Amino acid sequence: MMESALTARDRVGVQDFVLLENYTSEAAFIENLRKRFKENLIYTYIGSVLVSVNPYKDLEIYNKNHMERYRGVNFYEVSPHIYAVADNSYRSMRTERKDQCILISGESGAGKTEASKKILQYYAITCPASEHVQTIKDRLLQSNPVLEAFGNAKTLRNDNSSRFGKYMDIQFDFKGAPVGGHIINYLLEKSRVVHQNHGERNFHIFYQLIEGGEEDLLRRLGLERNPQQYHYLVKGNCPKVSSINDRSDWKVVRKALTVIGFNDDEVEELLNIIASVLHLGNVQYGGEEGSACITSDTQIKYLARLLGVNGAVLTEALTHKKITAKGEELMSPLNMDQASSARDALSKAVYGRTFTWLVNKINFSLANKDESNKNYSVIGLLDIYGFEVFQNNSFEQFCINYCNEKLQQLFIELTLKSEQEEYEAEGITWEPVQYFNNKIICDLVEEKFKGIISILDEECLRPGDASDLTFLEKLEDTVGGHPHFVTHKLADGKTRKVMGRDEFRLQHYAGDVNYNVNGFLDKNNDLLFRNLKEVMCMSENNILTQCFDKEELSDKKRPETAATQFKTSLAKLMEILMSKEPSYVRCIKPNDSKQAGRFDEVLIRHQVKYLGLMENLRVRRAGFAYRRRYEVFLQRYKSLCPETWPNWHGKLSDGVSTLVKHLGYKPEEYKMGRSKIFIRFPKTLFATEDALETRKHGLATKLQAGWKGYSQKSKYQKLRGSAIAIQAWWRGILARRRAKRRRQAADTIRRYELFIKGFINRHKERCPENEYFLDYVRYSFLTNLRKNLPKNVLDKSWPTPPAALTEVGQLTVFMELHMEQKMIASEIFKDKKDNYPQSVSKLFLNTRLSKAGPDLSSFWAQYAVTVTKYDRKGYKARTRQLLLTANSAIIVEEGKLKQRIDYGALKGISVSSLSDGLFVLHVPSDDNKQKGDVILQSEHVIETLTKIAICADKINNINISQGSIQFTVGQGKEGVIDFTAGSELLVTKAKNGHLSVTAPRLNSR
Ligand SMILES: Nc1ncnc2c1ncn2[C@@H]1O[C@H](COP(=O)(O)OP(=O)(O)OP(=O)(O)O)[C@@H](O)[C@H]1O
Ligand SMILES: [Mg+2]
Repeated sequence: MMESALTARDRVGVQDFVLLENYTSEAAFIENLRKRFKENLIYTYIGSVLVSVNPYKDLEIYNKNHMERYRGVNFYEVSPHIYAVADNSYRSMRTERKDQCILISGESGAGKTEASKKILQYYAITCPASEHVQTIKDRLLQSNPVLEAFGNAKTLRNDNSSRFGKYMDIQFDFKGAPVGGHIINYLLEKSRVVHQNHGERNFHIFYQLIEGGEEDLLRRLGLERNPQQYHYLVKGNCPKVSSINDRSDWKVVRKALTVIGFNDDEVEELLNIIASVLHLGNVQYGGEEGSACITSDTQIKYLARLLGVNGAVLTEALTHKKITAKGEELMSPLNMDQASSARDALSKAVYGRTFTWLVNKINFSLANKDESNKNYSVIGLLDIYGFEVFQNNSFEQFCINYCNEKLQQLFIELTLKSEQEEYEAEGITWEPVQYFNNKIICDLVEEKFKGIISILDEECLRPGDASDLTFLEKLEDTVGGHPHFVTHKLADGKTRKVMGRDEFRLQHYAGDVNYNVNGFLDKNNDLLFRNLKEVMCMSENNILTQCFDKEELSDKKRPETAATQFKTSLAKLMEILMSKEPSYVRCIKPNDSKQAGRFDEVLIRHQVKYLGLMENLRVRRAGFAYRRRYEVFLQRYKSLCPETWPNWHGKLSDGVSTLVKHLGYKPEEYKMGRSKIFIRFPKTLFATEDALETRKHGLATKLQAGWKGYSQKSKYQKLRGSAIAIQAWWRGILARRRAKRRRQAADTIRRYELFIKGFINRHKERCPENEYFLDYVRYSFLTNLRKNLPKNVLDKSWPTPPAALTEVGQLTVFMELHMEQKMIASEIFKDKKDNYPQSVSKLFLNTRLSKAGPDLSSFWAQYAVTVTKYDRKGYKARTRQLLLTANSAIIVEEGKLKQRIDYGALKGISVSSLSDGLFVLHVPSDDNKQKGDVILQSEHVIETLTKIAICADKINNINISQGSIQFTVGQGKEGVIDFTAGSELLVTKAKNGHLSVTAPRLNSR
């Protein structure tokens, strides 16, 4: 209702008819519907009943955001929606562990099926899921397109009209996840298989198969891609419908069948049956008067193959009838009419039973297979035809309207019961509600021996010349005196004018309906000749063997009539629903032309009447219009009374009492229950709501000032807090860096000391002084050994004995220096450059040049290595030698000096942190002898740089950068080298003119 989360738009009219002041006025009711419909507000409540008007357009109120909005929220906190009903049922199921059901009713085209799909989608998306649950969710969702293909058709009222009633259980485990489902179908309109009214179609599947089926498939089924070819598809003269795309629907259905668990063979057998129905329709009769014969045998050939039966036997069964005379079985020929109706009866039986088989198959796929988890809760969805009143009403309407009487009965019982229970729970005295109890009409239809169904069955079974008219006479004799039953003969003059002589009228709770008795007996008998049944029992099609059971033949009892079967299934349905807590969705269709935005008042008034909505409202309003839990009521209205504002600290009920007394509620206007306040009239609530609106303005100014102060203050505090946090964090980083540096320095000194000490004491027994040294020697030897082991057992070469292990005396000055260099390398590169770890185990050498190269001995180099030099503009790579002498680094090409860099002029050295071997020697740009910084690449970059650092005394001038290095090209121009990690080493000139280096990733850092 007017709760806080609602926007002004939601307040168009009233969201709950219970709040209509003039609740008995149909005009006020319809006006409220109209106002809301104009604003695209298609949903309105009557208490917990949801009234829904088909918008005939996409409203964009069914997305995930909307689902989230309704999840776990109270009914009255958000605007009315089908999701609110779905969520409410789900929550009641979980918290009260009571099974729920949602009953959806309304005329054809009012949106029942759409509503049930929305509910299913809501559960599929919002309920918890696991892998198994996902499969079940998919199957639940995919069962719809399959059932719709086989059970829905285009009618004048609805392009996708469900021609069967459907009850579906969704089973949830204790975690609230859907784990299974079960479907019960009611009364498929089989007659549609053989006949359609003008402008209507047969069931979708026929057209889908013909339009969408692959060429191969159609050839196997003997079908042509043209619906006009099939008698059963052209009766309504409407094979194509603009709103339906049979071809794409075929794909959806085909996929859904797979999701549900059909294998290819089963699909083929199913389609064989569908195709055989089309062939049956094309079976033509001819021959002499009185004994029909089949004129073309192509159909029979296909039928024999598709149905898996003997063609000759089938032909005989389609033209003869088996009779028993004097204990002997005889085949008596059928005339043309009889033969056609035998054929049509077979088509209907085959299709109808296959549909039931399909439902069973889906049920098998939806069944909760987890044996350990049989203890589930259930939400049932009932999508069933609402009251139907046509110009001419027949057996089907009789059944459907009987079903609606039963549902109304259930509604009365359950609503009144729950109202009464709530009153009791709240300790409020029950006031009897005046309402019409339609039990009397239910009895008229279903009572044993005396009810209409019993009389109909009797006429069907009785020997002699029973006909539809004798049935009508029998009715007059038996129930003629019933207050809700009239016939032409029994009616007064006025009624007689609007009734045919072959009609009877039932005064349903929702209104009067005249039924024409023509066809009642045939439809109730629903007979299939015995010999046709026998043929089908011999079928080799696996589906048909399940549909036509041989036991049926030996069973001498007559099969139950259609009406009795329906009555029995309804009784079962009532039992199922009775054990559950119901919610109701009442669907209304706004116009007959399937148009958006058109509100046809006459049509709607009719539906409001036949849906019994005014009666719903009367029952709901019999007691109190509004009830809310104390905490909710107090929370909303506490600002209206000084004692309860801003907070009430006593008992909730006392708070509410204080509040309503302050507001001046009169004693007859409300009652206090145990946990709820009950308000009798909407106007009391509206007055309170108005008071709140006024009060809000006053409060708002005050609140605003308070809020502004509060928000400024909290803003400031937030800023201050952040500043302190940043400072502390930065200080921490600095301190940690300092500590690390100190630790490293101390470590180096300690190791160096240990090394020297160890060297001096190397001849002694192992003792703390030489421990480090001996370990180091041993370690280097072993690492070296690992790499130089003999390749096979015959190889007698073995690395030089472990001098360091046995006789450390041989350790040369070279080794000592070498180790010193290694230590420096570690200081510079450890944890900073990716390829440092690889260098650790390799000895540093003084030359890397091969002996075959030019003689460079004249340079007196301390270190020599082959490098690649990149020129600064085109980055062309050239092989050079880098020599380190006492005073300078020299770059040599083929023994000739190309460039000399005095150590004094070396500003610094840059190298990347990655695994590449590039480095830059920086020289002052104003040095005219130099043409800019030097870019070099060495395969032994750690060694090379360590040597340079030592020779040039630049240990602290090596800059290891991440990302890129800048260098000067000369005359103040700059260049950049970009480093990235990649799979292999690559040095190229990038489009932006930079030198781009990709260094391989190494795992060793
Ligand atoms: N909530 C909705 N939003 C948009 N369109 C809707 C909605 N509900 C129904 N429709 C439209 O109305 C058409 C008919 O709805 P639906 O098939 O659900 O009717 P029905 O009550 O199941 O009828 P029948 O009794 O013939 O099966 C739908 O195909 C759709 O185009
Ligand atoms: Mg439907």
